[in-house]
Amino acid sequence: MKAHLIADNVYCLHADIQTADLFEGIWPIPQGVSLNSYLVKGEKTALIDLIRDWEGAPNQIELGLASAGARFDNVDYLILNHLEPDHTGWLKEFREQNPRAEIIATAKGISLVKAFYKIDTGLRVVKDGDILDLGCGKVLTFFETPNIHWPETMITWESRSRTLFPCDAFGSFGALGDRVFDDEFTPEEHVFFEKESLRYYANIVSSFSVFVERAIKKLAELDIACVAPSHGIVWRRDPKKIIDRYLKYASYSREGEKEIAIIWGSMYGNTKAGLDAVVRGIEKEGVPYSLHRVPDENVSYVLADAYKSTGMVIAMPTYEYAVFPPMAYVLDIFRRKHISNKIALRIGSWGWVGGAKKEYDAILTGFKWDNLESLEWTGYPTEAEFTVLEERGRALARAVSQSGSGNQPAEP
Ligand code: FEO
Repeated sequence: MKAHLIADNVYCLHADIQTADLFEGIWPIPQGVSLNSYLVKGEKTALIDLIRDWEGAPNQIELGLASAGARFDNVDYLILNHLEPDHTGWLKEFREQNPRAEIIATAKGISLVKAFYKIDTGLRVVKDGDILDLGCGKVLTFFETPNIHWPETMITWESRSRTLFPCDAFGSFGALGDRVFDDEFTPEEHVFFEKESLRYYANIVSSFSVFVERAIKKLAELDIACVAPSHGIVWRRDPKKIIDRYLKYASYSREGEKEIAIIWGSMYGNTKAGLDAVVRGIEKEGVPYSLHRVPDENVSYVLADAYKSTGMVIAMPTYEYAVFPPMAYVLDIFRRKHISNKIALRIGSWGWVGGAKKEYDAILTGFKWDNLESLEWTGYPTEAEFTVLEERGRALARAVSQSGSGNQPAEP
């Protein structure tokens, strides 16, 4: 991939990853992902964020470096904003090609360099506000922004071009192709990247939303001309758009959109029949909803809409005296990802004996959910149960409509 010029001697280098492999070994990326690195050239040369050896990424970045008149072996500084191996997996090989480059990270980042890659020399710890002068007017400043989404994370700022290099923050799934800048993509492509940035946020970052808000507040004084993350679009026309989008995503940890995520599984159609009545009730109240059948749909996509929505329907049958197993997996992911502050309705059918309710209620202990009265029935719903189910759907929709104050970011 050729380098893309952000400003005088500031370049974006990116590797597009198209693979059946999973991101973090969990999350599907059917439309790929980009690994972005950045080159800043003064009298000295800095490479910001690296890559892993994944689908030819080192070669793609090497081609970008060459098109910008640089090589891995003439880089003076390697800045590692974040040590997760998608940005550092190729570090040992880099070191073999370039034994003299200084590797720069926070104290916790340097500890991880030693632990992951057994590199003990040529390391420099930087603290909040430290400066690296590359010469020729190129000055990098480092801001510690812990827990986006690992504890060692920092953000690098280049003051001449007013470019922010935030690594994972403001990132997205989705390969870029031969364009990288926000002004080069069509409105339809932006719709795709908006969805993929929400999924990326919900999957990777959402548990750390308070730290996202804290970092954005910390950087508020910077006059940012370009946001250059290490996944996804580089924002030079409208950098505020992705910052505001991330603030909105962070606010979903407290209050979602006035929408309902319906997550359902059904063995023989009886739970589905009851769910159809709930959906009729929701539609009568005019509240938008999304439908997600488990296990057909990967939890990555379920998580994105569940995180975004204020309302939730959990519809599943009892399975062997307990929660329908695919739903148990989804609920476990919700617990691990701290999916909080939802208004939830649980419904479901059972055959010869119930049991899902008992386990479901136990799972929900610790979830900060406002749970509406649930309904379970034997086999196929009766007419009376259909009536109740439709009314429960309406009640949920009304509760979602009347909830909260509309996504105001809280003071971290
Ligand atoms: Fe893109 Fe947390 O690594």
